[in-house]
Amino acid sequence: MDKIIDFINVNRDRYLDELKALLAIPSISALPEHAADVKRCADWCADELRRIGMQNVTLFETPGNPVVYGDWLGVEGAPTILFYGHYDVQPVDPLNLWESPPFEATIRDGEIYARGSADDKGQVFMHMKAIEAHLTQTGRLPMNIKIILEGEEEVGSANLDDFIKAHKQELAANVVVISDSGMFARGVPSICYGLRGLVYFQLDMRGSNTDLHSGSFGGAVANPALVLSQVIAKMKDRGGRITIPGFYDDVVPLSEEERKAWASLPFNEKKYKKDFAMPKLFGETGYTTLERTWARPTFEVNGLLSGFTGEGAKTVLPAVSMAKVSMRLVPNQDPNKIAGLFQTYVEHITPKTVELTVTRMHGGKPWMTSYDNPFVQAAARAIEKGFGRTPIFTREGGSIPVVSTFQEELGLPSVLFGVGLPDENAHAPNEKLDLGNFHNGIIASAVLYEEIGRLGTVS
Ligand code: BES
Ligand code: MN
Ligand code: MN
Repeated sequence: MDKIIDFINVNRDRYLDELKALLAIPSISALPEHAADVKRCADWCADELRRIGMQNVTLFETPGNPVVYGDWLGVEGAPTILFYGHYDVQPVDPLNLWESPPFEATIRDGEIYARGSADDKGQVFMHMKAIEAHLTQTGRLPMNIKIILEGEEEVGSANLDDFIKAHKQELAANVVVISDSGMFARGVPSICYGLRGLVYFQLDMRGSNTDLHSGSFGGAVANPALVLSQVIAKMKDRGGRITIPGFYDDVVPLSEEERKAWASLPFNEKKYKKDFAMPKLFGETGYTTLERTWARPTFEVNGLLSGFTGEGAKTVLPAVSMAKVSMRLVPNQDPNKIAGLFQTYVEHITPKTVELTVTRMHGGKPWMTSYDNPFVQAAARAIEKGFGRTPIFTREGGSIPVVSTFQEELGLPSVLFGVGLPDENAHAPNEKLDLGNFHNGIIASAVLYEEIGRLGTVS
């Protein structure tokens, strides 16, 4: 193992040059004009997998973007890891807020800035380099591995469930490993044992067939911007509790052990507020900030559009209004059931003065696991070796829809070992990844393979 770690240390700078090439590909899955870039990124990943010595590297076509597959299955009797990551990235707007171009990776103060650096190319690349280190130094891996890299994670993984269902045999493994989450804080590595789920909707309201003079018509007709605001405002009460009937029926309450454990984590609420310049925090009464984001569901407005928003003032009644809204879910809320409850409620509370269209968009199930399995313990030892500190156990507020599919369709536990930091601007301008965490993450991944190999076949 020392030889492998030495190799990783010696190659530190080369990794950055290579990572920059990966980060230069604008593989934005949400934007049709980037379809060719997404494809190019899949090819880049496949080439890299071949180059580091992975076998059977294939692009599996789907109705959307291809799934990149590669495996190395040379150790009989050792466990098989199914590694999952995504090579697609979020759009970059607002572009003017980037301090360096999003697809020209730039290093400043020990961080590499680029779209996809933390979410998720940098973290996927970490594992590629860990595999490369093993294969070049010893000619083998300590365990078996199957890699799948998805190109549609940021748009809801619409085709991945079908891909997994259609390839159950080929994807058979003992454990899923994913690096697409965060560390609790700088210097505090973590393993994530729970993710929230998601349901997402677009709401459209129409009040008339044209914008109207607000003097001639105001007061006599409903204003769709106001009606939409009123409907949205009815989703949460003043205590931050969601008012959709039945919404909380299946929510698993927080255990006392979790509340205690989280209360002792080094979370600094003042700093959290200050870092993001928030005047005052708000959330469901009776819960702490960590509890609110990790273990409680929420309803959010992602975007609102209506009427005149230019400079100056224009007296007008908008004809239409639109909102993008979403709900983060926790175990055991079912996205389909919650979508039904939401739709019924919205239709019920929207007055007849507007024409309402409710469109459901993507989503995913919440996930939670116990962390007393040998794979998680193996990951904890690996992280300690890579980061010099034992990891803490966290849940996250974000969603990775496929994790529950791995559990349900393949019966596999997942180990979520992520190295992003809370302030690394995933989905926002100036996304970045700490180079120390990236480097330690390569070492931890290499050690993780060794530790999992050592477990022998676990049933
Ligand atoms: N890597 C994130 C998920 C994540 C975020 C995990 C924060 C842990 C902490 C992933 O790429 C992501 O952004 N997921 C989407 C899923 C959605 C598009 C279905 C999300 O959470 O919004
Ligand atoms: Mn991600
Ligand atoms: Mn993301």
